[in-house]
Amino acid sequence: MMKGLSGRHILLGVTGGIAVYKSAELVRQLREKGAEVRVVLTRAATQFVTPLTFQSLSGHPAPAELFDSTAESAMRHIELARWAEAILVAPATAHTIARLSHGLADDLLTTLCLASSAPLALAPAMNQQMWCNLATQSNIDQLRGRGVHLFGPAEGDQACGESGLGRMLEPEQLVQRLAGLFSEPCLDGVRVVVTAGPTLEDIDPVRYLGNRSSGKMGYAVAAAAEQAGAEVLLVSGVSSQPRPKRVECIDVRSAVEMHEMVMRRIPQCEIFIAAAAVADYRPVRQCKQKIKKEFFHLRLELERNPDILADVSRLADGPFCVGFAAETERVAEHAQTKLVAKGVDMIAANRVGQSGSGFESNENELEIFWPGGGVKLPQTSKKKIARQLIELIGQRYKQPER
Ligand code: PMT
Repeated sequence: MMKGLSGRHILLGVTGGIAVYKSAELVRQLREKGAEVRVVLTRAATQFVTPLTFQSLSGHPAPAELFDSTAESAMRHIELARWAEAILVAPATAHTIARLSHGLADDLLTTLCLASSAPLALAPAMNQQMWCNLATQSNIDQLRGRGVHLFGPAEGDQACGESGLGRMLEPEQLVQRLAGLFSEPCLDGVRVVVTAGPTLEDIDPVRYLGNRSSGKMGYAVAAAAEQAGAEVLLVSGVSSQPRPKRVECIDVRSAVEMHEMVMRRIPQCEIFIAAAAVADYRPVRQCKQKIKKEFFHLRLELERNPDILADVSRLADGPFCVGFAAETERVAEHAQTKLVAKGVDMIAANRVGQSGSGFESNENELEIFWPGGGVKLPQTSKKKIARQLIELIGQRYKQPER
């Protein structure tokens, strides 16, 4: 069985093009590789083939309608969006590509693509003029920039009698490419601890000191490590991000709690990745009751929190340590100072305090340093940059001379 696909949840979106006949074979081949497949069609697809074909091949209903009163919660798009570990739209028509690039949600397929955090891949299939059209190309660029994977199209004879770019890849090629999304087992069997999100430092029962970390970056790193074959523990501050599949998650609130949990679990891990935005200070006293508005000035006394990353990197026989550096200026310089000061094997620096990277944003840009080297990863989705980071970590971790 193809390791990357065995047991994986693949959602196949089928849109209205003549290449749908290949999609039926694709379902068969995916199941042969051990994947679980669910199929969703667009209305136009049902003009070419009936849902029954895909129901028979996948072993599950193949819906085309957004609203279904028979689905338990009538929210099938959310159920499917959560179930999917990868979404492949094959064939992807120019129309569906345009809808996806504009974030439209006017049928079941586009709605669940929008609602899912799973990697999305498109296998375009259309007339060569439609593919070359600037409108289509600009939609494709937009989608690529958001981390969407493009499988094809191939060049050759087309059903319309023309010849050129626009043929859908063959089912076996699509199966290979899809497996490639999962099979970068650069951390196969390696135990990884990731921290993510903010720590909140309570002042009294209603107030706390916090920061703007959403957890997006750390959660994406945990998911990418899992996809690279690692056994992952995610120690997370308060975050509303969906939990990555097959990742053990432990929730904490304060820096002290995060420190305690990480130190307890670190002896059983080989790589530590600190993506959390840990508060450097906490209030010296936590008031048991809500502080009343009695004073004109109120002084808050703070004390230093433990430095989780520095403490882990100081351990004898400790794990390979990767830190993040959140900087508002002189990013590379400050990051390199932290690399040395915290004694870590690698540091990933990002600019914060501006839109488009760092806190809360869906995208990031990283400058990564290790002793004697470094690389810049240009701005892209946090999911994609997390996969690139994990690949780098895999390479450095395995280097004997580090
Ligand atoms: O969560 P998002 O909204 O997606 O935002 C992502 C992010 C900006 C939070 C993330 O990419 C990031 O930069 N995380 C590290 C934030 C941070 O605390 O940076 P720092 O430069 O202050 O700390 C350096 C390193 O030491 C970090 O790995 C941090 O986790 C660690 N640290 C810091 C203080 C402390 N007491 N203990 C620590 O372990």
